[in-house]
Amino acid sequence: MKQLEGKTALVTGGSRGIGAAIAQRLAREGAQVALTYKASPEKAAGVVKAIEAQNGRAIAIEADSADPRAMVNAVETTVRELGRLDVLVNNAGIGVYKDISEFTVNDFDAIVAVNIRAVFMAVTSALPHLKSGSRIITIGSCQAERMPGPGGALYAMSKSALVGFTKGIARDLGPKGITANLVHPGPVDTDMNPANGPAADFQRSLMAVDTFGTGDEVAAMVVYLAGPESRYITGAGFLIDGGTNI
Ligand SMILES: NC(=O)c1ccc[n+]([C@@H]2O[C@H](COP(=O)([O-])OP(=O)(O)OC[C@H]3O[C@@H](n4cnc5c(N)ncnc54)[C@H](OP(=O)(O)O)[C@@H]3O)[C@@H](O)[C@H]2O)c1
Repeated sequence: MKQLEGKTALVTGGSRGIGAAIAQRLAREGAQVALTYKASPEKAAGVVKAIEAQNGRAIAIEADSADPRAMVNAVETTVRELGRLDVLVNNAGIGVYKDISEFTVNDFDAIVAVNIRAVFMAVTSALPHLKSGSRIITIGSCQAERMPGPGGALYAMSKSALVGFTKGIARDLGPKGITANLVHPGPVDTDMNPANGPAADFQRSLMAVDTFGTGDEVAAMVVYLAGPESRYITGAGFLIDGGTNI
C-alpha cells in the first residue's frame, strides 16, 4: 500500500516549479491532490493530466494567494470535491529583490499577502477539516536565517515570519495530533531561480555541492513529512540547500 493512500492534499502554487513537483509526488504516494494556481491555468491543467495519467486523482483551483477569500475557497473546494483534507502544503510564494532604498509599501504588502497572510488563511481555513494525523508543511527558504547578498530583505523577512508561525501552530495543534513543519530550500532550478540565471553562479559559489537542487528533491522531503513516519516531528525546519553558506 502507498504511504498516502486514502489521504487528500492541498498544494498552493502547484502549477509550476517546486509546487508542481510536490503535487505529482504526493499523488504518486497515493494522495488525492488539489493544487492552486493564479497565472498559469494551462500548466495547472497539465499537472492534473500528468497525475491522472498515473491513475491518480487531482483538481486545479484558481486561487490568488494574495486574496484571503480565495484561500478560504480553495480549502472549501478541496473538501467539497475530494471529500477531506489531510495534508496542507503552503508552497506558493513570490520573490521580490531590490535594494532596501527602492522597496515601496506596495512591494511590502504584496510579499506579506502571498508569502505570509495566505499561509495564515490556508491554515485557519483548513483547521476545521484536519483530523489527528494531519500535516501542515510550509515551504520557507534557507534565506529565513542566512542572507548571503543584498536585495532580499523583504523576502527573508517573509520566510523567517513562517518560522515563528510554524513553531506557534505546532504548539497549538500538537495536542490534536496535527504536525506543522517547514522545508527550507536553497537554490532550486525553477522559473523563480533558473540554474542559468544571472544570480546562479553567485549562488553556486556559496554551496558545498556544485549544482542547483530540483523540485523533485524538495518534493521527496515534503512526502516524508506528509507521511506516517514523521509523526514525532513538529515545529521543525529542514534545510535542503546543497550546503549553502554552511
Ligand atoms: N526556487 C528556489 O530557488 C527557491 C528557494 C527557496 C525557496 N523557494 C520557495 O519555494 C516556493 C516555490 O518556488 P518556485 O521556485 O517553485 O517558484 P516559481 O517557479 O516562481 O513557481 C511559483 C508557483 O507559485 C504560484 N504562485 C505565485 N504567486 C501566486 C499567487 N499570488 N497565487 C497563487 N499561486 C501563486 C505560481 O502559480 P501561477 O504561475 O499559476 O501563478 C507557481 O505555481 C516559494 O515559496 C519560494 O519562495 C524557492
